[in-house]
Amino acid sequence: MLHLLGAVALVAIVSTSPEVAAFPLSLSSFAASANRLVARADAVYSPPVYPTPETRATGDWTVAVNKAKAELSTWTLAERAALATGDLWQPPGLCVGNVKPIASTGFPGLCLQDAPVGVRVADLVSAFPSGVNVAATFDRTLMFSRGLAMGNEFKGKGVNIALGPGMNPARTAEGGRNWEGFGADPYLQGEAAYQTITGMQASGVQATAKHFIGNEEEHLRIESSSNIDDRTLHEIYLHPFLRSVQANVANVMTAYNQINGSWAAQNSKLNNGILKGELGFSGTVMSDWAGARSGLASALGGLDMNMPGVPNWLTFDGTSYWGVDNLLKMVSNGSMPESRVTDMATRILSSWYLLGQDVDFPATNFNGWDLTDEATNQHVNVQDDHYKLIRQMGSSATVLLKNTNNALPLKNPKSLLVIGDDAFPSSKNGDPNFYTYRGGNDGTLAVGWGSGANDFPYLVDPLSAIIARSASLKTNVTSSRNNFDLAAAGALAGGKDAALVFINSNSGEAVSIVDGNDGDRNNISAWGGGDQLVLAVAAKNKNTIVIVHSVGVMDTELWIDHPNVTAVVWAGLPGQESGNSCADVLFGDVNPSGRLPYTIAKDQSHYVHATPLSNTESHPQVTYSEKLNVDYRHFAANNLKPRFPFGFGLSYTKFSYSGLSIKTLSLTSAQTTDLHAPKYTVNFTVQNCGSVSGEDVPQLYLTFPSSASEPPRVLRGFTKVSLAAGKSVSVSLALSTYDLSIWDVVKQKWVKPSGTFKVVVATDALAAASLSGSI
Ligand code: BGC
Repeated sequence: MLHLLGAVALVAIVSTSPEVAAFPLSLSSFAASANRLVARADAVYSPPVYPTPETRATGDWTVAVNKAKAELSTWTLAERAALATGDLWQPPGLCVGNVKPIASTGFPGLCLQDAPVGVRVADLVSAFPSGVNVAATFDRTLMFSRGLAMGNEFKGKGVNIALGPGMNPARTAEGGRNWEGFGADPYLQGEAAYQTITGMQASGVQATAKHFIGNEEEHLRIESSSNIDDRTLHEIYLHPFLRSVQANVANVMTAYNQINGSWAAQNSKLNNGILKGELGFSGTVMSDWAGARSGLASALGGLDMNMPGVPNWLTFDGTSYWGVDNLLKMVSNGSMPESRVTDMATRILSSWYLLGQDVDFPATNFNGWDLTDEATNQHVNVQDDHYKLIRQMGSSATVLLKNTNNALPLKNPKSLLVIGDDAFPSSKNGDPNFYTYRGGNDGTLAVGWGSGANDFPYLVDPLSAIIARSASLKTNVTSSRNNFDLAAAGALAGGKDAALVFINSNSGEAVSIVDGNDGDRNNISAWGGGDQLVLAVAAKNKNTIVIVHSVGVMDTELWIDHPNVTAVVWAGLPGQESGNSCADVLFGDVNPSGRLPYTIAKDQSHYVHATPLSNTESHPQVTYSEKLNVDYRHFAANNLKPRFPFGFGLSYTKFSYSGLSIKTLSLTSAQTTDLHAPKYTVNFTVQNCGSVSGEDVPQLYLTFPSSASEPPRVLRGFTKVSLAAGKSVSVSLALSTYDLSIWDVVKQKWVKPSGTFKVVVATDALAAASLSGSI
């Protein structure tokens, strides 16, 4: 019955939509389609939830929402509608998304610009480390600082709305945009999203949490349906968005894909029911670029801003599903209440007031469509001293995966070989389109491709940094960029104190196909023959050190156990200071403290794989059948041994944990009913018991009572501590009732299962407990 009601409601909504109203529905064809829907309902069904909850003046949004309401009470319906659709796509618009000034009201318009790593298609800006490196730092302070520094750059360029951060978990091994988000665990994603947004918005720039939701792969992303059950959706994929709402994120961008058979931009269950309903999101829901697939259905389904609005990419005929004319028509013909338009405008204006953009916000001073046009580019330098933070984050995110007999740090080597194209500068550096549409393997990899990348002001390549750092040591550095002349590589490697082999693996957004990879990688081997290069060097040099720049997991099985591969350094995508960050770690100026934000398998059948390039279905059904068992949870649940688990990373020193105690906090009655208030603290001591200073990342995992049917371990806490040799520090990690709850699909709420929870403090997701206790 419920399903049929859903189907009726769906048909009712669709039949009033201007673009499909003419579709003839006979009674028999209606019955046939209703039956089909019922037959498919278990697998692919997104229930209708209407109407869109109106934004409320509560909490931190109170002043902003009240100001927006007061201001809008003086605007005409057409003026309110004008806020909701992007315009000026391409010049004379300056940004990738533009809301036109509304002269009659004095509203100055909005500039929306990528990217999650810094201002995209602009000069004199910084290229920050990618999300995956942010996650690998496991350092909330650095996450916040990067957000703030990026926010200041966006504001300095006159960007109102930064189109980031991305927070789609790395569900599949090949997922093209995995590097934009913060790894494979929802808790880590959530913490990084929270800090990034808080930092960005502290600068006065609106952040955008994206892509809501289920956009975990690229190939066919604008056609596929991500089919996610309710519990998995809440516990894994929604969590980073929940933390974003808690950080008062101003905007949420919908995905391109469908979720359970309904396009993200018009999915009323997700936008009305979950985002604006359950999470109480007060800001603006905007579409991804041409991600709205309908006019009325998306307006009623909770979309507040259609981007880029005009033209519609799917037609490119100058029309838009929205625009003032269409929105007004929907109201005047009774399809949509006027209050829906008013609420779109209220949300957009509330976000603007929340960030104080009504006072002294800089006008846009660059032209993202033409950086050479002197009339529209003022060439404002916003880089400040952000290179210092970028360098620090690069080394803080570097994960040391293998270090046999302390091969690293390098100890005054007399001779070094630096080999591999990935150690060298890019021949295309300076080409404004290069990082967005990066063509093949050309020089060191410091960011993936697509709208998640920005233009580097410069890129310090590893070779230059190593030469500079080793100059005072009088090290003789030999180098070769050739990945494919294996005989020459072996000959160069022989007799050197150490051979540093740089390899990489790239991916990006499905806006361009690079070396046959449609955003998602076709495989997870090293690009450019990297594996064979390592083997050729290791065959001739007993101290072969491999440095990997990778967008995510990369298979290491061909060489990881080779006795001559003494060290492996996982450097991710570090941004503009890449070479310096790497040299800092190689030479021991910085003790590596990054931890893997995903699990590297031994056996590729242990990964979830993205829809292959060979799949050309028009609407592939991507079923999240692993449910809660994403990444390390899958390995733990099935007792599988990976090569390197989530959370793993070595140091040049050693740490020990002791003295676990768990305290139940005494709460006020308000705190008792607050699902998210800290309820317990897990306390212990971390000691640096080695001989050099360093940073450690103790991790807290919970094992739920078995009745909860959770994976064996789930991350619920971490911190980064910095300790001089021999020193100790007390750590206290808080747990809320939410942290101990599961999503009850029947009760439709968070429920704490009864029974005993095991609390584990460990060095990675699968390591034996260093400390354990129970709640
Ligand atoms: C991407 C978004 C991006 C937008 C604007 C889309 O193709 O999916 O992440 O913000 O373009 O560039």
